[in-house]
Amino acid sequence: MTIINIADVAAHKTRDSAWLVLNGKVYDATKFLDEHPGGDEVILSECGKPDATEAFDDIGHSDEARALLADMLVGTVEGAAEIKQKPVPTRPAANTGPGFNAVLVPIALLGAYLAWRAYFLSP
Ligand code: HEM
Repeated sequence: MTIINIADVAAHKTRDSAWLVLNGKVYDATKFLDEHPGGDEVILSECGKPDATEAFDDIGHSDEARALLADMLVGTVEGAAEIKQKPVPTRPAANTGPGFNAVLVPIALLGAYLAWRAYFLSP
């Protein structure tokens, strides 16, 4: 992964080369400017800035919009490890694993005990 200095990003804020910093990653939005549903001006106003994450997130961009970013990735901002990463929302993991069993197993045992008691100890 190419490491990009924030000063290099600042040099890419025109229609000829428009870089956008989102969550510590640098995206080349140049080719996308004309296709952007929100228009080119809004993107250009955020290009070259050290961080456009808030502006991008504030719009409430869809997962589809976020998926488009993958093809525009050019690198990671230098020192981006310290930037808090906001994960792309995905479907929550299935309810399995030790956390789930830790609840399910005692309930199953209790149920078995109650059934046994009702069957054998009923008058
Ligand atoms: C390369 C980065 C970007 C991509 C791939 C992108 C993509 C999209 C897409 C696909 C939509 C349609 C709605 C949706 O699916 O959410 C959209 C709408 C919009 N975007 Fe972006 N966008 C980017 C950057 C930005 C930036 C930096 C801004 C401004 C800060 C911005 C402002 C808007 C606005 C205002 C709309 C709403 C347009 C409307 O519904 O009238 N976008 N964007």
